Amino acid sequence: MKLLPVISLLALTSATSALDNGLMRTPPMGWMSWERFRCNIDCENDPKNCISENLFRDMADRLAEDGWKEMGYDHVMIDDCWSSMLRDKDGRLQPDPQRFPGGIAKLARYLHDRGLKLGIYGDLGTHTCGGYPGTTLDKIDTDAQTFASWGVDFLKLDGCYSNEEEQQKGYPLMSKALNATGRPIGYSCSWPAYRGGLPPSVNYTLLGEICNLWRNYDDIQDSWDSVQDITDWFFDNQEILQPEAGPGRWNDPDMLIIGNFGLSVDQSRSQMALWAIMAAPLIMSNNLRTLSSEARAILQNGAAIAINQDPMGVQGRRLLQERSQIEVYWRPLSQSASALVFLSRRQDMPYRYHTSLAKLNYTAGSYEAYDVFTGKTLSGLSAATEFTVSINPSGVVMWYVYPKIEKILEPVAETGRQLHHRLCLQHFMLCVSAHERLNHV
Ligand code: GLA
Repeated sequence: MKLLPVISLLALTSATSALDNGLMRTPPMGWMSWERFRCNIDCENDPKNCISENLFRDMADRLAEDGWKEMGYDHVMIDDCWSSMLRDKDGRLQPDPQRFPGGIAKLARYLHDRGLKLGIYGDLGTHTCGGYPGTTLDKIDTDAQTFASWGVDFLKLDGCYSNEEEQQKGYPLMSKALNATGRPIGYSCSWPAYRGGLPPSVNYTLLGEICNLWRNYDDIQDSWDSVQDITDWFFDNQEILQPEAGPGRWNDPDMLIIGNFGLSVDQSRSQMALWAIMAAPLIMSNNLRTLSSEARAILQNGAAIAINQDPMGVQGRRLLQERSQIEVYWRPLSQSASALVFLSRRQDMPYRYHTSLAKLNYTAGSYEAYDVFTGKTLSGLSAATEFTVSINPSGVVMWYVYPKIEKILEPVAETGRQLHHRLCLQHFMLCVSAHERLNHV
């Protein structure tokens, strides 16, 4: 008699446990400087695009004023090349005085006043990848305390210029040091990317206990080739990677490059769809001042975001790689729903792909499918119904699939943002624009 509650409790607990800081129960969202602005420190000749407090303030303004924050994009993350080449007289990191005259604490206040969070970059090693002062083992406590004292909310800890042994010690030590500050600080570990991303060199059990997210693989570049290379690596290794993700602990295939120069509109939809299926952090690296309306519509697609942010937090999988060069991806979602992505790797013309939900492992029943990028709903689908989707070259068709029978909502504990996203999926009209949604919820 007494055993039953214990057993059911165990059954409910996911096999994996996450870093105990309560943060990032859904994949983090926001903006990061690296892919788009790199290590451009030439503020004299390129003042708008150099790594400086102005760039981060500008991006904060855009996030706060252009509907991003309401969609969940609430982090502004400083990447490499922010610091002075020298630590201060007490051995603390300090920002470059010319490019960050107001200091990081002031920038953090600017963001917090707008309901945003500030992320910063450090590197476990003698130097950052860009050659700035790194965090050696003896500096971990000092740097964690410095970041906390500035009001930083997130740390990306890179791994250039350190060896395996130093990383083995340093990544867990930084996790402890961040917790010891008493300030909740999301923690992204680049450790696996420096160890080939796979066991036995990478211990994902340990990573899940000490980090909220981790970079597993190579840096993204501004091209469709790069998006495909990353996608292939993550899904080729899905047996290993997929079970490791969950609330508070995410695989990170790197930034969204939508809105830059390398992706067509179709390819941009593909990146958004695949990152949603992967339960990947949605961290844009683009110029929010000059984004095209197409790019903005894709990045602010309410249904794609809601799928990415599903509270169950189960990472999706690749189901099929067809000889026709069509691939099918699937992710289970809360409320018995799921997401499907049909991706074309073809380079000729739109391909008419025939299938049925039964062929994609769905059980018998009655379904509806909401097309994430056209906004159309397909009803009257049974598992056996044969259907055809037309997929553009290097494009996707993305569906949110849900059982037709009205489900009694399970009483799940949700944050306001999760509730937003769930309602957005259940009442698609609320997704039409961030402003409209805000008025409804
Ligand atoms: C590494 C990281 C990138 C970026 C650069 C900065 O390459 O993987 O994401 O942070 O360093 O130098």
